[in-house]
Formats: sequence, structure tokens, C-alpha cells
Amino acid sequence: MVETGLSVSGELRRSVMGWCLAGLLTPALHAGAQTAEEASTTRVPYVPTPWPVVQAMLELAQVGERDFVIDLGSGDGRVVIEAARTRGARGIGVDLDGDLVKLSNDEAKRFGVAARAQFSRQDLFETDLSAATVITMYLLPHINLALRPRLATQLRAGTRIVSHDFGLGDWKPDAQVTVPVPEKSYGPAHSTLYLWVVPAFVNGVWEGAYGDGTASGRYRLDLRQQFQRLTGTLTIGGRSAKLDAATLAGDRVAFSAMIDAAGGRVRHAFDGRSIAGELVGLWTTSGARGTRAGPTAANSASQTRALRVEAPVDGLRRN
Ligand SMILES: C[S@@+](CC[C@H](N)C(=O)[O-])C[C@H]1O[C@@H](n2cnc3c(N)ncnc32)[C@H](O)[C@@H]1O
Repeated sequence: MVETGLSVSGELRRSVMGWCLAGLLTPALHAGAQTAEEASTTRVPYVPTPWPVVQAMLELAQVGERDFVIDLGSGDGRVVIEAARTRGARGIGVDLDGDLVKLSNDEAKRFGVAARAQFSRQDLFETDLSAATVITMYLLPHINLALRPRLATQLRAGTRIVSHDFGLGDWKPDAQVTVPVPEKSYGPAHSTLYLWVVPAFVNGVWEGAYGDGTASGRYRLDLRQQFQRLTGTLTIGGRSAKLDAATLAGDRVAFSAMIDAAGGRVRHAFDGRSIAGELVGLWTTSGARGTRAGPTAANSASQTRALRVEAPVDGLRRN
């Protein structure tokens, strides 16, 4: 294991943290993506997230009693302890700095949350993330990028990720807030927080049937996903159209498309979820305004289930 934290304590830690982070950030901001191995040899200094920013991170992720929070590089444990203390969540923190891990476990005891907030000395690149419903981190841009494949593959759809000050490259956040921090010891007097909701892996070709007796048919759906951005094509009765509205939020999938049919153009819309490898939800059809709806184009709503018949080998996620 490579020692990447600064093992300093008390006043010394507080005085070095400002210049240390500032000095590391400049080259790091310009660095390209690294492998996890390269990134784990990079020093990420200990700089605690200011308390108002901790609160804002928990608020942005909407942390509650049912959540399991993992803070990657947990410092003095404040994020997980605060999540347990003020929001009833459970969680763990990992850090390479043994002194900070001990301090965190002591603090968890002092606040009476030791059963729900636990800390261990561990490399964040070797930490199993699969139990998390919320990931928090205050690292460096290139470390975030090196972590990204683990975040995308290990986390369940719907898991929230909140990062203090640094993004995830071209995985654009779902939300972003700025918190004033007048006493911040480096950079501008504010912190930027980013939120991502891990999208389900829906890339691929799906087939299913819709219908309620009034209107029915089989469909083929070719979905292309880049993180939470969804595009695709719907094919029904040999006619194809691009999806004109497609959204992916956690496991929630919605789209619509206008397909030519014998009696006029028909709007097909799906609103549902990706559940255990199937797309399950409501399929509605409606005749387009100004066109004559034929027998297959009458308004209808029915439950549908689509199965994936082809999945890309180089997809973002496998589950
Ligand atoms: C900027 S501090 C953030 C501390 C805390 N999360 C907070 O927000 O207050 C980053 C922490 O990550 C730890 N760290 C750096 N690299 C790590 C690694 N590979 N695995 C685990 N912890 C690491 C450092 O020791 C440091 O405590």
C-alpha cells in the first residue's frame, strides 16, 4: 500500500493544508486521466471540508436514515459522522492515514454513533463500493477520473455521488451548487459541490410488445447511453424514428418517438424502470394531432416488459 496522506497532526496539519493543496492542485488540474495504480501513488493532502460545506454535501445528496454513506479519503471522519449524527444514516470512511482513522473512530464514539460510523485504514482504490447508496469525496481531479470506472461499475443505479470542488471529466453532473466559504484557506472563497446519480446500464438493443387490445404491436429499441445521456431509435412495424425525448435518471427510463403508421403518425411513449435486466413500465400510444388515427394508432396505455437482445461489449456498465 502506498502512503499518500500527509501524516502530520494538530497545528502543523492545519498550517500545511492550505499551501499543500494549492501546490498540488495546479499541476493536477492539468493532468490527464490516470490509471488507478498511477493515481494511488499521487499524494492527496488532508484538507477537511468546512462544516457548512459538509452540511451542504449531505443536503445535496438528500442523505437520510436509509442511506449507507462511503467517504473516500475520510480525513477526520466528519462527513460520515455528521451523516450518522444529524441524519441517522450509516456509513464508513476509508483513509490511508492511520492517525486520522483512529481520530475518526474516537470522534464517532464521542458523538455516540460508533455503531453507525466506522473507519478503516484502506486505499480507496481497493475499497468495495457496492454497499453505498451515497459516495462522498474530496480528492483531486485526476484521482476522481481514475476512480470513475469503479464508480460506474460498482455502484447500483440511483446511488448518489457528491464531490467537493472537483468533477468527473466528461461525466457531467446532474446538479451543482456553490457554497460560500469566506474562511477558505486556498483558492476562491467558495466551494463547488457536484452531484451525480448513477444511471442504470441500458445501452443495447431491446425488444418487447405493447398493447391493450385496442392498439398493439412489437417494438425494437436501440438505446445508446453515454453516462446519463440517452439517445436511440424505436422501430415498430418496419418503421424507425429517433427518440425525441429520452431521459435516464438512476433506474428511471422515459422516452417517446413519432412512428409512421397506416392511419397516420402515432406517438409512442415509455415511462418505466430498468429492473433486473428488463425495461418495465407503461407504454402509451396516441394519434398525432392533425392526423387520422388508424386502428393501430388509437390511444392506449399498457404495461410492457422489454428484454435486452444485444448489449455492447464496450458499454459503460455491465449490470
Ligand atoms: C482533502 S482530504 C478530505 C477529507 C474528508 N473527506 C473531508 O472531506 O473532510 C483527502 C483525504 O484523502 C486521503 N487519501 C488520499 N489518498 C487516499 C487513498 N488512495 N486511499 C484512501 N485515502 C486517501 C488523505 O489522507 C486525506 O485524508
